[in-house]
Amino acid sequence: MPRKVIIDCDMGIDDAVALCMTLFDPRLEVLAVTATEGCVTAEQANDNLQAIVSELDPDRYPRLGMAQSTEGAPAVDTRYLFGEDGLGNAGFESSHRQRALTADKIIIDLVRANPDDVTILCLGPLTNVALAFRREPMLPSLVDQVVIMGGCLSGGNITPCAEFNFYFDPVSAQEVLRSRTTKTLIPLDVTQQVTFGLDIMDELPASETRAGYFLRQILPHTFRSYRQQLGQETITLNDAVGALALLEPELFKFHQIGCDVETGGELTRGLLIADRRSQPELRPNVNVATEVRANEVKQYIIDQLMTSGHAS
Ligand code: RIB
Ligand code: CA
Repeated sequence: MPRKVIIDCDMGIDDAVALCMTLFDPRLEVLAVTATEGCVTAEQANDNLQAIVSELDPDRYPRLGMAQSTEGAPAVDTRYLFGEDGLGNAGFESSHRQRALTADKIIIDLVRANPDDVTILCLGPLTNVALAFRREPMLPSLVDQVVIMGGCLSGGNITPCAEFNFYFDPVSAQEVLRSRTTKTLIPLDVTQQVTFGLDIMDELPASETRAGYFLRQILPHTFRSYRQQLGQETITLNDAVGALALLEPELFKFHQIGCDVETGGELTRGLLIADRRSQPELRPNVNVATEVRANEVKQYIIDQLMTSGHAS
């Protein structure tokens, strides 16, 4: 039986790659894709959600859940890296073909309808999941598990100490990490060990396939902006690694660690606190990926995209 999954993401380029990897995989039943504000505004995230899923047009079309603006979100502008639309200025049409339900409502409905059976793969700020847990206090115990790309054990990307998804909405990140549900965390330290050079462009599915065409629209911009803005010849695809941890967890090493999130610090907003002392005060509450077989993960992601191409 395929595993039931809801994919909650903030609709940037690496989120889109993760959707390419998952929407065609017969091991998964993607019940819904839900949008959250983060690397693009809520409005842009909703446009991108509809555009990505209709471009890929998988046989099993998921339900779509819409993002709402995040209260207290910091002013962050990632357009210099991901383009005006967060998708490398690909100019996809947004079709608005489904009746718009909010992401938290879709999450609540689907988890209630499939108790203990739904995994939520979180590839953006944890706003929607926290909102769903707040609105329906029984929900954390009805979710099978939450797999999160977010946080970092050492050195952030948006501030010296915080990873973007946790920084954008630290209150929600804290609520989800503190919740009773089973949590797996794939932090930045692990995702950034998997890097891709321009040669990935030669290993993508053919441009006649929907996945191949789509990836060729979004990836070249990423290489350009990493080179021009960051002086890097290789890119990272954090959410693709997060998705792979769901599909192939044996390529990672995990440890149960007591984790929390700083919500209010002047310099430390969104900092992941991981109590790795031999006598921790924080009760181990999160299964944290601490090591990755980076070369194998990279090859697996490329193979997974090729398989999606054959299916699209
Ligand atoms: O820090 C990396 C994460 O922030 C990724 O999920 C990226 O898409 C953005 O959401
Ligand atoms: Ca993301």
